Amino acid sequence: MTSPRSQPLPGMSDIAAPEISLWQDLENKARAILSLYRFDEVRTPVLESTSLFTRSLGGSTDVVQKEMYTFEDRGGRSVSLRPEGTAGVIRHLARLGPEHAEARVYYLGPMFRAERPQAGRRRQFHQLGVEALGAPNPAADAEVIALQQHLFSAWGLGQCEIEINTRGLPGDRAAVAAGLAAALRPHLGELCEDCRRRYEDNILRVLDCKQEACRRVADDLPLMTSFMSEASRHYLDEVLRMLALMGIHAHPNPRLVRGLDYYIQTVWETRHAALGAQDAIAGGGRYQIQAGDRVMEGVGFAMGLERVITALQKDRPSGPGQPGRAVVWIVSQGQRAFEENLVLAQLLRQRGVRCGLAYGGRSLKAQMREANRHGVAHAVIRGDLEIEKGILVLKNMRDGAQEELEMPALVERLVAASRAEVLPS
Ligand code: HAM
Repeated sequence: MTSPRSQPLPGMSDIAAPEISLWQDLENKARAILSLYRFDEVRTPVLESTSLFTRSLGGSTDVVQKEMYTFEDRGGRSVSLRPEGTAGVIRHLARLGPEHAEARVYYLGPMFRAERPQAGRRRQFHQLGVEALGAPNPAADAEVIALQQHLFSAWGLGQCEIEINTRGLPGDRAAVAAGLAAALRPHLGELCEDCRRRYEDNILRVLDCKQEACRRVADDLPLMTSFMSEASRHYLDEVLRMLALMGIHAHPNPRLVRGLDYYIQTVWETRHAALGAQDAIAGGGRYQIQAGDRVMEGVGFAMGLERVITALQKDRPSGPGQPGRAVVWIVSQGQRAFEENLVLAQLLRQRGVRCGLAYGGRSLKAQMREANRHGVAHAVIRGDLEIEKGILVLKNMRDGAQEELEMPALVERLVAASRAEVLPS
């Protein structure tokens, strides 16, 4: 049995071969697409002051109240592992000058939430997120949603359904809260303990409580949008119209509120049918965050990469090719041949050929078995006889054909074979 000490903490995982190639494939494709939309990468610290999250996400949100890994550092300061990426990115952007008022950045990395681990819910998970700063403009929201969908389709992920809603303009907040409070007051006794607390300090969150009793109450409430200004409703209609222009369908869900306080106006969540109970594969929206004396406004989303990978494995169980696999295996008989092959391997790698080199003076048969195990397309075989003749043997592992080649021809053949095999289609 594996000792608990050799395992990561519950809800956290090592990510290694063979699955790592899927992660790298997603990341490479994502970086290429993000650059098409003019997003630059930003890497912010994993550890930040606790007050950054309390201020940005809202002190009464579940994430801040129940899920943050918070502790005192050696200087007695309260610090937290980041539970999401937006707060840190906005802290970073707020320090930059006005020429960055329309910055477009993306981030990719681990986030931490002390939730009860279960399928799809991790304590350390990875997000790919984007933030596009700038004044409200329905086209900006639609463009960011289109980018999200572009990433999903480039990864080969079908069945992603977007639910969308508006939280209204900041000026609507008081009217929405008052309207909901009046409608909820007669039903307070039917709500769960959390929702009775939310009624006091975060009333919108009652709408997306998962408890059956709270859902029944929420289903009979007037729609949030009925307490909003015409401008807020119109903004959402415009986002939907622009998405439709780009051929993207989003289902309006008037009860969607999302769990973070910084959102205003457009909010959305994207679900994937194969994910079960934790089916949100991405979530985002427009937000305003106070950073020092500035109010930063933008629109963005983050997707959970573990969930993307689970969905992909369900959509296409065989997964993509293995980009890390060697194309050729170099087999030596005798120390002199091995040393010449060591130099050959280096030369091939510098020419971009992925190759493996058998170590340890084992028999030819054992080295060929190793080549087979690695699934390579070619083996190069060299011993004293080949050195004397000034040639190498190239074996095609698919059909067993062997030929003798001089070094320059062999290198060119392997460079060409490697390009055909490795280059992404
Ligand atoms: P969020 O909805 O809290 O939004 O998280 C975004 C995504 O991260 C979720 O849809 C889910 O795929 C993934 N996720 C969240 N918690 C977990 C978990 N415990 N285990 C595995 N995956 C998880 C945000 O974080 C916002 N910062 C998004 C945003 C960016 N809004 C505007 N800009």
